[in-house]
Amino acid sequence: MSTPNKEELLSDIAQFLIDEQEIYGAFTFTSKEEEEILTPIDSDSEIKNVHESALETVDKSFSNKKPENQKPITLNERLEACQDLKQLQQLCDEADELHTDLEGTRLVFGVGDPNANLMLIGEAPGEQEDKEGEPFVGAAGQLLNKILAAIDFKREDVYIANILKHRPPGNRNPSREERMRSLPYLLRQIDLVRPKLILCLGKVSGTTLLDRDDSLKNLRGDFYPFRNTLLAVTYHPAALLRNPQWKRPVWEDVQKVQKKVTELSEGK
Ligand code: URA
Repeated sequence: MSTPNKEELLSDIAQFLIDEQEIYGAFTFTSKEEEEILTPIDSDSEIKNVHESALETVDKSFSNKKPENQKPITLNERLEACQDLKQLQQLCDEADELHTDLEGTRLVFGVGDPNANLMLIGEAPGEQEDKEGEPFVGAAGQLLNKILAAIDFKREDVYIANILKHRPPGNRNPSREERMRSLPYLLRQIDLVRPKLILCLGKVSGTTLLDRDDSLKNLRGDFYPFRNTLLAVTYHPAALLRNPQWKRPVWEDVQKVQKKVTELSEGK
């Protein structure tokens, strides 16, 4: 095996630290007592506040577009007028605020069963997703398909979307502003699909929907009440590709998800 040069070594170490921080949070030691204080959210009322403020932010840009002497149509009204995913996709297609500062990207709306019991939410489209207009079709998507197959789900059985509907430049992490602009559309999409369970793939997805800045290690392992459904968080398949040692926790998470979806679907 060839010895890595200094640049390769530094880049490996930097990637390792980024991954570690993503999973374990800031580089501080958390005592047992502190960990116990970090209790899971058992009500979604706090989450509602951030969802409402995301809506107000986008509304401000809409009211500038109202025709003279006409009552402004709020984003909420436009979203509520969408009675199915097709109508919502049309609205998203026309929404400038869903774009990132990367020009010429295409809308990556979502794919799958519109009545799915399980909805998966990733971070943002990458290069391949932007080319095909479909979420999770690149390398991470191939792994996601295998993870789904391991719990007896086909890709067509679930619904897949992202926090952002357009690709950020250089696949950087979506900014808070971009996530807040996108959130009202995603929430309407969730309400139209009405899944029994949402599985957030990665920290960006989990922390955005739960409005909670925490490490993935703390977020995973629980089911959180969320808009008449339940929400769980696990590692992003792209992180798993770089860190195969996280296969085990993902395997544990998805088995719990499968069991919960089966339980909840019995009444559907
Ligand atoms: N990563 C994501 O978070 N979403 C995709 O659609 C592809 C890769």
